Amino acid sequence: GGAAFGRGSGLPFDAIAPVPGVVDDFNVPAGYTWAPIIRWGDPLFSGVPALDFDHQTVEAQAGQFGYNVDYIDILADQSGRTAVLAANHEYVNPGLMFTPSSDPAELDRRAAIYKAAHGFSVVELRRSKLGQPWRYLVDGRRNRRITADTVFEVTGPAAGTDLMKTAADPEGRWVKGTLGNCAGGTTPWGTVLSGEENFDGYFAWAADTAGQKRYRATPSSASTYTFERIDPRFDAHDAGYLNEPNRFGWIVEIDPQDPSSTPRKHSAMGRFKHEGANVIIAEDGHAVAYMGDDQANDYLYKFVSKGTFTPGKSAKARRSNLDLLSEGDLYVARFTGNSPAAEVTGSGALPADGQFDGTGEWIPLTRNGESVVPGMTTEEVLVFARLAADAVGATKMDRPEDVEPNPKTRKVYLALTNNSSRTLANVDEANPVTGNRNGHIIEMTETAGQSGSTFGWNILLLCGDPAVDQNTYFAGFPKELVSPISCPDNVAFDSEGNLWISTDGAPSKIGFNDGLFKVPLEGPERGHVQQFLSVPREGETCGPVIHDQEGMVYVAVQHPGENGSVATPTSHFPDYVPAHRPETGLVAAPRPSVVQVWRA
Ligand code: FEO
Ligand code: CA
Ligand code: CA
Ligand code: CA
Repeated sequence: GGAAFGRGSGLPFDAIAPVPGVVDDFNVPAGYTWAPIIRWGDPLFSGVPALDFDHQTVEAQAGQFGYNVDYIDILADQSGRTAVLAANHEYVNPGLMFTPSSDPAELDRRAAIYKAAHGFSVVELRRSKLGQPWRYLVDGRRNRRITADTVFEVTGPAAGTDLMKTAADPEGRWVKGTLGNCAGGTTPWGTVLSGEENFDGYFAWAADTAGQKRYRATPSSASTYTFERIDPRFDAHDAGYLNEPNRFGWIVEIDPQDPSSTPRKHSAMGRFKHEGANVIIAEDGHAVAYMGDDQANDYLYKFVSKGTFTPGKSAKARRSNLDLLSEGDLYVARFTGNSPAAEVTGSGALPADGQFDGTGEWIPLTRNGESVVPGMTTEEVLVFARLAADAVGATKMDRPEDVEPNPKTRKVYLALTNNSSRTLANVDEANPVTGNRNGHIIEMTETAGQSGSTFGWNILLLCGDPAVDQNTYFAGFPKELVSPISCPDNVAFDSEGNLWISTDGAPSKIGFNDGLFKVPLEGPERGHVQQFLSVPREGETCGPVIHDQEGMVYVAVQHPGENGSVATPTSHFPDYVPAHRPETGLVAAPRPSVVQVWRA
């Protein structure tokens, strides 16, 4: 029981029991209720039809909420009764959108629909009062869809360089679309950032240079999402589009308050399989962004802006802050443990000093905006940031996902989701678990200021189900009292500075559905992992956004029922109406949705 947990906050709850991975239910604690705010296919504009599985069109999808959402934020206006929801659309599950077809014309038509289901949505919300559920507004003034065809401006040192030029963009400054958007962050100046992650799956490409190989190990004659059927720039074998993959893998910035603004891709922040970016203003005024590269044995990065933050909401402050991420320096992390290798190897117990911990440094890849990596130009360092990081001896991590500074304490929390390729030969104190199935969380403390180049670190959690996994650790909290947790992915903080973690992959690791977990970081409750919700079968928990003072939590449910199909769905989330579709005799497939949870 946990009657005392969260006392004094707006979100008291007793942890829910873990839910077996075959259950197609969205579960919340006693005293809470949930509802979707918006679902894939819901129209953002009048004149756009509601989702019709059997008659979907590209025109409809371009005006409807897109597919799989990873990053969300709810940005309330001053009254608290209106807001904008900013949501990205990472990728699509074609098998949950359409029945199989081999008709080329139909496959072309679908490719265009997939393109329109990617990108971003900005949607206005309304509610009667604080703490009550929202409804979304069709035709809201700020409503906007960004798709794989929306024009982005490239900023920073790589803009306009040869590496960014294509037949369709000889200037190398204007990229159509954003793809594979995973986690993200809202900036102190009110824009949203999102990371272009698994962009390599969108191209048919040779991937035959050292730079390209570092992002795509194997050549591909066809892409996963088939855009090249209808859009030549996704066939990177074509001489005119060899560089098109270089134009993805960036941090994008979108102003959700201004639907006419041109979204941007910031080359100064480097190109990799960006999970996301989260900004904090350093003590010296510089904007500092923490960024993970989500692939096994890739790196953690930090960007420090050249300019400094201008407080306030004046037009002048806003203009100045909008340029902060266009210029600055990129660093990559090296973690050094403080225990002997023999104590780390094996990972079944803590080292003799009681901690997996140590010190670290941020190794510069650029200084004053220019390459400090021998043999690489500035644009090469940014476009092929992985190669630059390889060259300076960064620490290979267990898939860096979301990494966020705690606004209360300025400590930084890094989710490392798992890494099956971590072996006895390459464990280190920061990645100490062989075959790391369940992932871990590292807590970092900047020791030379937020923009400085040294840090201390310790492992906060070694995830898993303590009932069956020997290698779990919960910051010293008694293991028998925690919720089992696996594959940490996105992180967030509540107003008291507690960490919240959403997971992706738990069913295949510990047998339970993915969910959202609260972890206090201070005092006797430090390390007490408590599950707040679980998502339906085969879904991933994304977002999350914690507005504890109002008793509200928001998550995105990504790829529910991903192992099923339109003909044989394994999930009916979120409507749970296995509605008969008269023409086809099929039932409704699941719909990825943004969900709100509130105190009943
Ligand atoms: Fe889209 Fe790293 O998860
Ligand atoms: Ca140690
Ligand atoms: Ca993720
Ligand atoms: Ca994920």
